[in-house]
Amino acid sequence: MNPRDHDSHLQVRLAQPDDIFDIAGLLRDLAGHGLGWAWRPARIEDAIRDAETDVIVATDPGGALHGVGMMSLGEENGHLQLLAVRADCAGQGIGRRLVEWLEACARAAGMARITLEARESNHDGICFYRHLGYAKVGSVMGYYGGQETAIRLRKVLRSEAMA
Ligand SMILES: CC(C)(COP(=O)(O)OP(=O)(O)OC[C@H]1O[C@@H](n2cnc3c(N)ncnc32)[C@H](O)[C@@H]1OP(=O)(O)O)[C@@H](O)C(=O)NCCC(=O)NCCS
Repeated sequence: MNPRDHDSHLQVRLAQPDDIFDIAGLLRDLAGHGLGWAWRPARIEDAIRDAETDVIVATDPGGALHGVGMMSLGEENGHLQLLAVRADCAGQGIGRRLVEWLEACARAAGMARITLEARESNHDGICFYRHLGYAKVGSVMGYYGGQETAIRLRKVLRSEAMA
């Protein structure tokens, strides 16, 4: 079976408060990527309830969570705060679907660009974003708990001249 056939059965939708513990569990399982500890249930709940933040999930027909994405919307900048796909579902197009969903939200909200940070050590994550059209625009020393450098990436949605 083509892995993308699996992806086509997934639904991408806005997260609900009922999803909080599933999201926290998925992120805990990815703790090796530095995600789990920063995203405790209370913080996830705040994000879901925040009108300026889109939290989305990919779920299968049985309701199981396969991925999560989160973006906050500023005046002109969408900040992609979080993206995670269950490790056993990687490489099936779920990450791309989540990013494209959030990009569509950002465009609809009039954002000029999307920025994000990834750990300098997260080579796979950085390559994934570059593949989706994000370009490195800088690095931020000590961004992660004063310890690890972040690589900042950006995708322009519309030219600054029109912004
Ligand atoms: C990074 C992550 C979100 C990718 O999700 P995924 O569902 O495995 O990615 P997809 O299958 O949607 O891949 C989308 C595209 O990116 C490409 N891609 C994925 N990883 C890549 C890599 N390391 N190098 C180059 N291209 C890559 C795929 O080939 C695919 O290309 P295509 O759509 O043109 O065929 C996922 O592996 C993950 O959650 N990692 C742990 C957490 C993390 O690192 N989050 C992001 C950084 S904060």
